[in-house]
Amino acid sequence: MILVLDFGSQYTQLIARRVREQHVYCEIHPFNLSLAAIRGLAPEGIILSGGPASVYAEDAPLPDRGLLELGVPILGICYGMGVLNLFAGGTVARAPQREYGSARITIGDDRDLFAGVGYDVEAGESSSGGDAHRSAAPQAPGARGLSDAVSGEPLERPGLTPGRDAHRSAAPQAPGARGLTVWMSHGDRMESLPPGWTTLAASANSPAAAFRDRSGRLFGVQFHPEVAHTEQGSAILRNFLFRVCKAEPSWTMENFVGAEVERIRATVDGARVICALSGGVDSAVTAAIVDRAVGDRLTCVFVDNGVLRADEATRVAAAFRARFGDRLRVVDASARFLDALAGVEDPEEKRRAIGRAFIDVFDAEAHRIPGVEFLAQGTLYPDVIESVSFKGPSVTIKSHHNVGGLPERMRLKLIEPLRELFKDEVRELGRVLEVPDEILARQPFPGPGLAIRILGTVTTDRLAILRAVDTIVVREIKAAGLYRTLWQAFAVLLPVKTVGVMGDERTYENVVAIRAVQSVDGMTADWARLPYELLGLLSNRIINEVAGVNRVVYDVSSKPPATIEWE
Ligand code: XMP
Repeated sequence: MILVLDFGSQYTQLIARRVREQHVYCEIHPFNLSLAAIRGLAPEGIILSGGPASVYAEDAPLPDRGLLELGVPILGICYGMGVLNLFAGGTVARAPQREYGSARITIGDDRDLFAGVGYDVEAGESSSGGDAHRSAAPQAPGARGLSDAVSGEPLERPGLTPGRDAHRSAAPQAPGARGLTVWMSHGDRMESLPPGWTTLAASANSPAAAFRDRSGRLFGVQFHPEVAHTEQGSAILRNFLFRVCKAEPSWTMENFVGAEVERIRATVDGARVICALSGGVDSAVTAAIVDRAVGDRLTCVFVDNGVLRADEATRVAAAFRARFGDRLRVVDASARFLDALAGVEDPEEKRRAIGRAFIDVFDAEAHRIPGVEFLAQGTLYPDVIESVSFKGPSVTIKSHHNVGGLPERMRLKLIEPLRELFKDEVRELGRVLEVPDEILARQPFPGPGLAIRILGTVTTDRLAILRAVDTIVVREIKAAGLYRTLWQAFAVLLPVKTVGVMGDERTYENVVAIRAVQSVDGMTADWARLPYELLGLLSNRIINEVAGVNRVVYDVSSKPPATIEWE
């Protein structure tokens, strides 16, 4: 396995995903993980993430110095590069200029980390033949190669460091040198390297944009190979994993299923398991893997909370009935939830009311099943990391964990088969487990459902309006072939009435907002540039077909500063 030590970079999870894409198992731990714990994990390689601090700052987060003596290959990225340099006797200091965004590096040594990587500057061609779609930057005439950078000396030398902003136009590159466009985000740089260390690449602002130690075990890169904007970033990581760490690409979903099924069987050991299905991907895949492990000893419960989409309960029940037969229990608790929501306006109060009602209903149902000892839950890796990362849990903008507290209340032991997986891996796992594609391709739908899309109080009338609008939105988005490319597309019912005219009549009705966003993980999102024709079609259909709506608006806010849901 590859161990990623987290120094608080916004890209830490991305590093782990990139490693796993190469079928190498990878875990993220806080930067201060003890040496004993690291030895216990027996990593084949360690990656030190970036981070917002400066290594020379007084309160800088630093790992155990013994890390370098473990004999394990280490790749330091950005801040992590500084850590390696500092620990081994080099110096790191504030760069004269902060580098943020794209920069050009020139590769001076391609023996290991950069093997087969880079574009021929003059020809603009990739040596590895891959994604050679970006044009190479022009080169500074007369610049020298970098493999001869003198160790222990200040790295800034005439001829190697063009003036400010030079990276935007020309990086220092020898004729015939290979270069890459990379993603930089740093204010510090390596001023000198420890004796015997070699500079592998340079950029205008970072004379040592990459280095290797004398033993060929420690590497540092100033840029972020894990970010998509870095050309051939995956090839650089592959070189580290396979050339340097000699890792085996053995982490596949099939292997994961085998190991996880065994683990669940051993844990459950003849007892019964209960799992709440929501209709979403995570709970469906959780149920599928537990089903494979314990079969008849799993019971699934689907709670209709009254704030689902039109026909959702029927469709979800039908989809799961095929798999679970009478081991699926459908509980219609709409009346109870709507009661709990009556008169509630505040979004967080809505979430709490729904969370509490869910626990009550689910608990009551579980008591009807004798011998239940375990609760299977679809916790994903990002939730796990958020609670262990050194940054600590970030401020709660919205309390998403609607059923927190369930296992304690029910005195059940937890099984969380997805706790090592990222969302895209869960989808892949679902495919291996033959979860219907209709469920795997679903856009996320929040636990509190339409309750947080009806701004203000939730009533059956307003639910009926929003359900009708939502059905049109989903249908038309699907018909336009956009359902799978959008993270989410939905409608929000606003607590605002406006004047309109229909036929010869004045109307005074509701406004509906359409929200469609693109996102990779829901953490950030951009509003989708939907075609005007589609927006026009949506508006026409909604206003003509849904009584009570006379105006449709489109939300053009990105996250941040807006959130995806309006409440
Ligand atoms: P926001 O609105 O925070 O949403 O930008 C990010 C993602 O989370 C979903 N979301 C929720 N999911 N319970 C959930 O299960 C919630 O209370 C909740 N609030 C937001 C939202 O749909 C988006 O995918």
